[in-house]
Amino acid sequence: GAPVEVNIGKLEPGQMLRVEWRGKPVWVVRRTAAVLEQLAGLNDQLRDPDSEEPQQPTYAQNPTRAINEEFFIAVGLCTHLGCSPTYMPDSFQQQVQGIQSGFFCPCHGSKFDMAGRVFSGVPAPLNLEVPPHSYVNKDTVVIG
Ligand code: FES
Repeated sequence: GAPVEVNIGKLEPGQMLRVEWRGKPVWVVRRTAAVLEQLAGLNDQLRDPDSEEPQQPTYAQNPTRAINEEFFIAVGLCTHLGCSPTYMPDSFQQQVQGIQSGFFCPCHGSKFDMAGRVFSGVPAPLNLEVPPHSYVNKDTVVIG
């Protein structure tokens, strides 16, 4: 599949853009400062906080799993059986106490933080996949 160019210049903090790449949904979420601050403190609740499992680009192996930490880019498919998790920008505390936003998979209840890192004790075995991507300029990212 061809690379997909995404204009992220108008994305507001908290918003998500969805695009399709190689037949898969890809998300681009602009994270708020509050979300970024929280990511560093979640390690003991996560299965693989440093994304040491295979299939992660090296730039996904940091707490924000991003080249540009403001933007989280991931394949929007659960690593369990491939359902598409729901982005919960305001109501994730129903799933994990004290955490405002995250991703919840309705199929079997897997939970992911705002860097796509899977919480412990759910069926999904791996963090959400970060697709290969690069920035052309500050407002344009190319997926693939
Ligand atoms: Fe997401 Fe099973 S497919 S929890």
